Order: sequence, then structure tokens, then C-alpha cells
Amino acid sequence: MSKQRQFVNVAAGVPGPKGAALIEKRKQFVPKGVGNNTPVFVESASGALVTDVDGNTYIDFAGAIGTLNAGHCPPEVVEALKAQLDKYIHPCFHVGMYEPYVALAEKLTQITPGSFEKKTMLANSGAEAVENAVKIARKYTGRPGIISFSRGFHGRTLLGMSLTSKVKPYKFQMGPFAPATYKAQFPYPLNKPESMTDDEYAQFCVRQFEDFLLTEVAPEEVAAVIMEPIQGEGGFIVPPVSFVQGVYNICKKHQILFISDEIQTGFGRTGAMFASTHFGIEPDIITMSKSIAAGLPISAVTGRAEIMDAPNPGEIGGTYGGSPLGCVAALAVIEKMEREDLSGRAQVIGDKIKAHFHALQKEFPVIAEVRGLGAMCAVEFIDPTTKQPAKELVAGLTKGCYESGVIVLSAGVHSNVLRFLSPLVITDEQLEEALDIMTDVLKSQYVTN
Ligand SMILES: Cc1ncc(COP(=O)(O)O)c(C=O)c1O
Repeated sequence: MSKQRQFVNVAAGVPGPKGAALIEKRKQFVPKGVGNNTPVFVESASGALVTDVDGNTYIDFAGAIGTLNAGHCPPEVVEALKAQLDKYIHPCFHVGMYEPYVALAEKLTQITPGSFEKKTMLANSGAEAVENAVKIARKYTGRPGIISFSRGFHGRTLLGMSLTSKVKPYKFQMGPFAPATYKAQFPYPLNKPESMTDDEYAQFCVRQFEDFLLTEVAPEEVAAVIMEPIQGEGGFIVPPVSFVQGVYNICKKHQILFISDEIQTGFGRTGAMFASTHFGIEPDIITMSKSIAAGLPISAVTGRAEIMDAPNPGEIGGTYGGSPLGCVAALAVIEKMEREDLSGRAQVIGDKIKAHFHALQKEFPVIAEVRGLGAMCAVEFIDPTTKQPAKELVAGLTKGCYESGVIVLSAGVHSNVLRFLSPLVITDEQLEEALDIMTDVLKSQYVTN
């Protein structure tokens, strides 16, 4: 007998008949390589709730993979978009300039970390922001090399794939990859040798990075290091502060630019507008996308003015880069985040989620770690007997959750991590209902496992 729920209703079954018919059609016309994490076909969405074509309502703990920190369809954003549609849709910034582009560029230079003069260019997607950041870094330094990290994710374009770690599904049989890309080791605090203190482990990881510049590529050949301050697809891995600072300082010593990929960590998710501030660093370049504009396809590269000015006119940009709709949506999102202190809310949400799963950890030894900063938190599952990543359990949990009305995603190279990316506008009641449902699913699945 399922519990009576206030927000969630999956009475039609997941998928329901309309959803099932659409899935058949989707199979016929959309290639399978465009993956789907759930069988949900959305009819409408608001705040932290999603309703499908069969009338099922879900609590959204995925937020379109971290795109909806400000929630589904924030009224302020919808209003801004409607007003913009009445003016013009797309004069193309390279042809007819428009104020929202410049206003967003100005705003991003103000809210990103770094007490130096900055400039911003706009693009369409996260991967495109990464591509542009790399082009700009190469142009400025005159060096080819780019270092990313194990378990990092930077997108699905050729360069994005080349900088990304998880082979399947992101790279498998898709090479050869871009030259002059190198992958250094990123810390994995859960796997720290027991004999080391946290500090010793951080120093060990910094030394590994120093050695990398001896064994893999000379610093004089490296334009930039690109790092997610907290790894997203990699499993919400929070590196030691002194590791990030150590790498940052080594970059400074060798005039290597530090690119902070804040595409998933940015816009309040970690309890600060940008995660880089938790690590006390001022990146030379920051890439942003996802929650910047509540789902409008736009991305940004903000960096030191002299670096951003290295490319000559026409060398960066694109037909749709920084579309007016994306710009006005982003301005409305940032204004809402500042007004409602959504970063502060992220801290409260994250604390609740972590306290909930820490309590469950005592009952479920399969929960190896509960981690994260702010509302960028996750739970890693490892079989306590075999010590193997509990990938099947997590696959079952994500399925059990959406069938019970909570949409949640996995992460990690072993896909054994549940990651939480709920909109930050989720109410306390919705949060509690979602946690209760996830707990019921865990209880039902772990017993039978
Ligand atoms: C850290 C990071 N960088 C880059 C990307 C690529 O963004 P997009 O999928 O918009 O190309 C992602 C997407 O998940 C990401 O999390």
C-alpha cells in the first residue's frame, strides 16, 4: 500500500499510455545515442515539480542536469522572455548588437571571483564555452597544451570529449581525440590511503601534479589547466582545498592559465555563487552555462580582460552566441538569485539532504559516503562485502525513484553515485517528501539485493 503523497502522483504509471506511445515514436525518429535517463515525457513544469503527458507529477531532483537552480519556469524569467519576444528575437550580435548581451557581460564580470578587470564572451552550450576558453588561452599564451583531470567532464564536442575522462559512454569509439590534451590525476578523498592524513593526501596529490609536469608535458608548453572545482559527472567529488590551491599556485609559477569549469557548480549550487570561492582562488578564466538562464541555451566565458582580448575580431563567437532570449533570461535569473539568496538556500537544502543520508548510513552500510558542498551533494554506494561499486543498486534506485515520483540521476565513472541537483526553489515540504520517497525506494531495493 503506497503512502498518500502531497506533491507526487504517479497513478498513471511511468510511463503512462501517452508517454509509452511517444516513446515508441521517439524510438522511430530519434537515434538511440541521444540517451534518456527516464521515460518521462514532460507536459508542464514549475518550480521543483514536473508533470508528464499522462498527468503524473514528480519532484525534480535532477534539475535538467543542474540547469534549473532557479527552478522550472521562474515567473520573472518567463516575463522577461515574453517582453523580449515583443522586441526582437535575433539580430545576431556580430551584425546588430543589442544591450542585453553587454548587460549580461557586465554582470558576469561583477559576480565572478577575481578582483581584476574582466571581460565576457557568450556562446550557446557548456561545451562551446569550454572550446572558446581553450581557444582564448592558446591565443593568449601562444602555447598548445591543455591539462584536464581524471574523472573530469567538459562536454561532448571533439575537444570536450578529449578533455573528458569517463570513456563509456562519452568517448568510446569516437576518437582519435584532439592533440596536446593531457590528463592529470584528480584526488578521490574516499579512496585516500588509511595511512595518510587528509593534509598528507592533499600534498601527495599536489606532488603528483608537479611530477606530471616532468613526466607528461613541460609547463612551457601548457596554455591552461581546466578544472571543475567540484567534479560533477565524475561523482560530485570535492577535492581538498590545498590541492586546488597547490595546482593554482603551480600554474601561476609557470604562467599557465587556470580555467575553472563552473558549468555545473556555478550559480548558487554549492552555497556560493561560484564554487571557486570555496577554494580561495581567482581563476584566470571561468566557463559557465547550465543554471545561468533557467534552461535557455546560453553559456559564458569570463576572464581577465587582457586574456579575453587576445583573439582578434572574428576569431571567437558564433551566429547564435549570446542570444537575446538567453541574455534576458540570465539577467532575470541572476537578479532572482541575488534577491532571494538562493546560495544561502542551497546551504540549507544541502545540510538537510546530507543529514538525512548520514542518518541512513548507520542502517545501510552500502552507503559508503555522503558528500558535497551546499546543495551539490551526493551519496556513493559501495557493496560493504565485496567493496565493489554498487552500480546495479544505483541503477535500480534511479528507476525505483522515478517510478515512485522522484527524478534523480546517477554519476561517477562507476555510475554508483546518486547525485542531487534539485532546483534551489524547492520547498521544505517538497524536499522532505522527496527524501522520504528515496528512503522508501532504498529500503525496498536494498532488502531484495
Ligand atoms: C563541468 C561541465 N562542463 C561542461 C559540460 C558540457 O555542457 P553542455 O552539455 O551544455 O555542452 C558539462 C555538462 O554536463 C559540465 O558538467
